[in-house]
Amino acid sequence: MSSKGPKRKRYDSAGPGLQLDPAAKEQVHRLFEKKFTFHKPEDEKWMIRNLENQAEDQNSSKISENLSALKVKLNKLKDRLSDKDIIKWHTHTKFQHTSGGVMVELKTSYQIELCTQAWCKFYEILSQFPIVPEEILKGFTSVHLCEAPGAFISALNHFLYCKGVKAKWKWLATTLSPYYEGNSHGQMIDDDRFIRETLDKWYFGEDGSGNLMDSVIIDGLVTKATEHGDVNLVTADGSINCQDSPSEQELLVSELHYYETLAALKLLCKGGCFVIKVFTMFEEASITLMYILNCCFNQVDVIKPCTSKPGNSEVYVVCQDFIGQGQDETVCALQYIDNYNNGNSF
Ligand SMILES: C[S@@+](CC[C@H](N)C(=O)[O-])C[C@H]1O[C@@H](n2cnc3c(N)ncnc32)[C@H](O)[C@@H]1O
Repeated sequence: MSSKGPKRKRYDSAGPGLQLDPAAKEQVHRLFEKKFTFHKPEDEKWMIRNLENQAEDQNSSKISENLSALKVKLNKLKDRLSDKDIIKWHTHTKFQHTSGGVMVELKTSYQIELCTQAWCKFYEILSQFPIVPEEILKGFTSVHLCEAPGAFISALNHFLYCKGVKAKWKWLATTLSPYYEGNSHGQMIDDDRFIRETLDKWYFGEDGSGNLMDSVIIDGLVTKATEHGDVNLVTADGSINCQDSPSEQELLVSELHYYETLAALKLLCKGGCFVIKVFTMFEEASITLMYILNCCFNQVDVIKPCTSKPGNSEVYVVCQDFIGQGQDETVCALQYIDNYNNGNSF
């Protein structure tokens, strides 16, 4: 395109309201299209008991091989970036992040509390999926796992406030405690501005660590949550610093994902929703986790929010309509995860 030609107008300022030109509109639509829905086969019921036979299944070992090949290909591609100047690289990724201005706009125009990238991502998820359905707005309880500094809670607060139901909402949260000396600085987020103001709603376990990768802490959290009645929504936004081996991010974080799922399956009431952040899905542990979620929830979608930086691998799995406590698949899932976390096979 000639640099001398007339500049393309992005806005039709003369029209009623601001209008995007068609190319920009198309680009915005594409940003919101990054969604995937799991469809279970109609002729075969997915059951966690099927996982027993999967190792011998030729089909699944072929899939495993294909996924491993994809993982190698992606990591090779990422390796080609390792010699790039970090400042130049950040400038480039910032420029490529088309929706990067959303956060700034929200901060300045709406004075959002704790307006972070996480706030924007979760608000987007809340707006796209009926995880807070109208009929339960009479009373609503949420539990937030791995939640420091607390932007998901702030986003939910804003969302419910806009719907006029804030007073009926109860919440509880947990995270690696910024007040526990045993927690490493590399793993926890030490911004405690929000936690300090709402301390009675945070649970860090008997030892005070808040480490979710401990079944005792999960059981304590479940007991505490029962004080609030039925839990309708659980969010899990955990991540682990993988700077030393970025190519193994998925494996490194998979154990935390299993603990987050364990907590959600113990906490939720029938019909409840679970939102969990995951990364790539090349490893057997991730595929199995997706299978378990599909057995325990009637609707499972994966979304890359448009406010999530396109250059990272994070996506959110949105699970709706939990089959309920005591159901065969839930019992099997809990048993499978327990075995996985204790290093035993099924
Ligand atoms: C991306 S941040 C969460 C952001 C949060 N959702 C928000 O909206 O502000 C990931 C969090 O996971 C926590 N985390 C990592 N490992 C954990 C563990 N084993 N137990 C509890 N929290 C953990 C970190 O301390 C951090 O606070």
